[in-house]
Amino acid sequence: MLNIILCGAPGSGKGTQSAFISQKYGVQHLSTGDVLRAEIATGSELGKQIDALISKGNLVPDDMMYGVIENYIASLPADCKGTIFDGYPRTVAQAESLTKLLQKYNMDAIMIDLMVDEQLLIQRLIERGKTSGRADDNLNTIRHRIAIYHQQTEPIAHYYLHHGSYFAVNGNHTMADVFLQIMRIIDMNLGC
Ligand code: AP5
Ligand code: MG
Repeated sequence: MLNIILCGAPGSGKGTQSAFISQKYGVQHLSTGDVLRAEIATGSELGKQIDALISKGNLVPDDMMYGVIENYIASLPADCKGTIFDGYPRTVAQAESLTKLLQKYNMDAIMIDLMVDEQLLIQRLIERGKTSGRADDNLNTIRHRIAIYHQQTEPIAHYYLHHGSYFAVNGNHTMADVFLQIMRIIDMNLGC
């Protein structure tokens, strides 16, 4: 089974690369951002609470995210080839929870960290914001999301350096070049 945690700042290419990986390796793609936006779209009370956090660029509380991941892993089909976790974990507490959950099901994961320069992140997200309709794709919120990433998400790199398999990828290149780097890491870990 191939489980990949794809980590990186907002705009680093997590969603883009997850789609490529999913297509090539036949693994499922779980984007926690997409799950949360789907809940907002239902108009539920929970969705309204989530919207208030996401539209300001703040993280959703760890316990709420844990429920999403626990349900996902518990309902994986027996023939599942693996999962790309896009945007989860985002805090050290989430990383610790995920390790325990995966262990419970005799699974593990490699962590791939997309490293992209800040100017490029902002440029990509401003460009995407022209058509994405995402409430968080505006300059102020983008800057806040990047600050939250540095404060709360970046420390998980150290967690995976010490507790798992950590691989950094230079995400400043073209989508195809970034995917080549990722494929090398995956193939090496598949023993190909
Ligand atoms: P989420 O939806 O995960 O957003 P994000 O992390 O801010 O990242 P983005 O989706 O904006 O960017 P991406 O890295 O996927 O890049 P993409 O491939 O789209 O989360 C949204 C919110 O939900 C969070 O802020 C938080 O509130 C909440 N949330 C989610 N998970 C959570 C969790 N675990 N805990 C708590 N809260 C959580 O690319 C961006 C653009 O760049 C695209 O237009 C793309 O075409 C372009 N692009 C991509 N790669 C390249 C390249 N190599 N060259 C040129 N252009 C490129
Ligand atoms: Mg994304």
